[in-house]
Amino acid sequence: MKAFVDENVCIGCELCAGICPEVFSMDDGISVAITEEIASDDEIAANDAMDSCPVNAITID
Ligand code: F3S
Repeated sequence: MKAFVDENVCIGCELCAGICPEVFSMDDGISVAITEEIASDDEIAANDAMDSCPVNAITID
């Protein structure tokens, strides 16, 4: 599984980076996801981050 953040939708609330810093980090006020596969240990937190995003900017696939 990989995570993607739509930079045109993210409002920079930082929730995802707080919930799953292994996958999401803030860059210039916008979240960026790692380009690698999500480690199996991080999948639950990454999904929580996706579900918590107030503007649904995150896709995990
Ligand atoms: Fe942006 Fe949503 Fe994260 S608004 S900072 S992708 S929780």
